[in-house]
Amino acid sequence: MSTRGNFSGRIGFILAAAGSAVGLGNIWKFPYLAGQNGGAVFLLIYLACIFLLCYPVMVGEIAIGRKAGTDAYGSYQKLGGSKWGYLGLFGILAGIFILSFYNVVAGWAFGYFLHIGFGDLLNEKDFGAFFGFFTNDILDVSSAKGLANSNFIFSLVFMAVTALIVSQGIQKGIEAANKIMMPALYSILIGIIIYSLTLPNAISGVKFYLIPDFSELKIQTVFEGLKQAFFSLSLGMGALITYGSYLKKNENIASSAAVISLADTMVAFLSGLMVFPLVHFLQYKANLTEVATAGPPLIFIVLPQIFHEMGPILGRFVGGSFFLLVCFAALTSTISLLEVPVAYLVDQKKMNRKSVVWGIALLIFIVGLPSMLSQGMIPALNKLDFFRGQDFLVFIADMCDISLTIGGCLMCVFITYRWKIHNMDEELEQGNEGYRKSFLRKYLSFTIQYVCPILLGVLSILVILDKFWGIDNIF
Ligand code: TRP
Repeated sequence: MSTRGNFSGRIGFILAAAGSAVGLGNIWKFPYLAGQNGGAVFLLIYLACIFLLCYPVMVGEIAIGRKAGTDAYGSYQKLGGSKWGYLGLFGILAGIFILSFYNVVAGWAFGYFLHIGFGDLLNEKDFGAFFGFFTNDILDVSSAKGLANSNFIFSLVFMAVTALIVSQGIQKGIEAANKIMMPALYSILIGIIIYSLTLPNAISGVKFYLIPDFSELKIQTVFEGLKQAFFSLSLGMGALITYGSYLKKNENIASSAAVISLADTMVAFLSGLMVFPLVHFLQYKANLTEVATAGPPLIFIVLPQIFHEMGPILGRFVGGSFFLLVCFAALTSTISLLEVPVAYLVDQKKMNRKSVVWGIALLIFIVGLPSMLSQGMIPALNKLDFFRGQDFLVFIADMCDISLTIGGCLMCVFITYRWKIHNMDEELEQGNEGYRKSFLRKYLSFTIQYVCPILLGVLSILVILDKFWGIDNIF
């Protein structure tokens, strides 16, 4: 045990798990999903998913990990036999694919940080065209900037920094990095929110974000909310089994999971509160009638335009801080994603941590190349016929989303029928003496045995049908 390493205590674990949760999902995806799905209505559905489906799954994952004290594969295998080990492997594989495309987007954010903070990106005239050009040509050897503009290099560097942190181990690497980046992230976020709320027309953005319009409520809103909640909390693929395996026995799992869920939800909520006033400020300043809720490019196209409007000095400062925030958020997540396959090889194959880290990081970078190339450089990857004309990056991201809710569903089945709920209760009692008699125990037993497996199972199937055939053809 002692050779595996562990978190120094409750704060270290919570910061690391919250760091895993807080990421591009919160800052990049949540605001544009909320923008596309009716603002406050989306927020409400999202909160319901967290409360009803995500929190129980999170507690379950951490409990499995801490009980077994090993990686995702080893934990399922130890508590459930070798067949269940495949569920762990499935999660590890999902993690590899998530990191492969996640690192590409993180590379873009890193490039934008450098180009806004230290370069001349804000002088661009057309930010949409710039983003297209930037993501298209991954080496950008044709332009005057040459390799300095290459997102191939940006993501390679991002992956290398991730590997460097993970190679240092749990306390000196993952925990130490999170202890610096998480407080920094919260401070930058709050700073930008305060500033954006003082801008003209900010209140209209806040209203759009916070006043629900129930006419926007569609079945897809529920799908999007659920997938986003699972992704955002890093559930369903064993990341929290892995982190849980480094948690000491005297820590309270249920309350730690509550703090982690809350910290993540706060950042998603606050990101919306940062972005919508900015978007409505732009609408006012540039005299637009439409509110720009541009979808995935929101932070790469709409926000730079806003930083441009702020003028060269302020824009550079606010824009640079914003993308630094995005990089920190992404990095605390990429390290958790990399740790999952690394823990597997270190625990199961008894391989050396440092070499495993660099080997897997390189492998995942290579797995990510099709996603990177799918933004235009290879036309065949840009429009997939079997996937309604979407690009490869979106395809992989969607497949991963689906595997997370399926993974969460199967985890509940595992706890209910194989490991048994009373064993989970026993694990949750450690570090929480009153647990057995608490209402929380009843709530978790009920949700993990009935609500989560059924709802997650049904919703996963509906999401698959919707993705490949479109929901209109089903109902
Ligand atoms: N939760 C992170 C985000 O919101 C991404 C992430 C990190 C993740 N580790 C994960 C997603 C494990 C699923 C599973 O950006």
